[in-house]
Amino acid sequence: MNQDELKEAVARAALAYVVEGRVVGVGTGSTARKFIDALAEMKDRIPGALASSEDTRKRLEAHGIRVFDLNEVESFPVYIDGADEVDRRLRMIKGGGGALTREKIVAAVAEKFVCIVDRSKYVETLGKFPLPVEVVPMARAYVARELARLGGEPCLREGFVTDNGNLILDVGKLGIDDPVETETRINQIAGVVSNGLFALRRADVCLLGTEDGVRTIEAE
Ligand code: A5P
Repeated sequence: MNQDELKEAVARAALAYVVEGRVVGVGTGSTARKFIDALAEMKDRIPGALASSEDTRKRLEAHGIRVFDLNEVESFPVYIDGADEVDRRLRMIKGGGGALTREKIVAAVAEKFVCIVDRSKYVETLGKFPLPVEVVPMARAYVARELARLGGEPCLREGFVTDNGNLILDVGKLGIDDPVETETRINQIAGVVSNGLFALRRADVCLLGTEDGVRTIEAE
């Protein structure tokens, strides 16, 4: 199976986690897009969805799936999303598509986070994938200097503006030995909106697409 087929397989497997009669939180990216297309098959059994980006909102609506405002929903059972890297404790790097802040917000409200990835995303240690950091535009240079002081190599994502009107710095060479500590520390820099480490709120379940089928990994 190629990477696309592995993504397809995990996206379909995630349907089993959708709770009928309840809204479902939906992530962003190519794997999440496959999930949305699969979700369309059961759209009459759910009231609608919560979107983690404008891209996701548009795709859900194109399938005739109602998109709720998160402020109208106090709790919901499951959020389903891809990741750029996930480790065995189900901590993740996300934000390759630039939707990290809304993803983090929707994931925070969800009772359960189901991460759907192909095998290439499963890593021993987080950090090979440059860490996306969303910054308020006026703080771009300051935040970049502070990230460099932490040992990172920040690089502005050229020509990209987030759904929230902000910029993304992709930070390479960060040694992420302690993901919770790194996530917390970066969040404390003035001008940072959020960063792509999902360690404080990690996934509860990972559906991993492999040549031998979809493996289910539960958080330790
Ligand atoms: C979007 O901002 C990201 O967090 C995605 O979840 C992540 O980049 C995975 O995307 P793919 O499914 O396209 O690999």
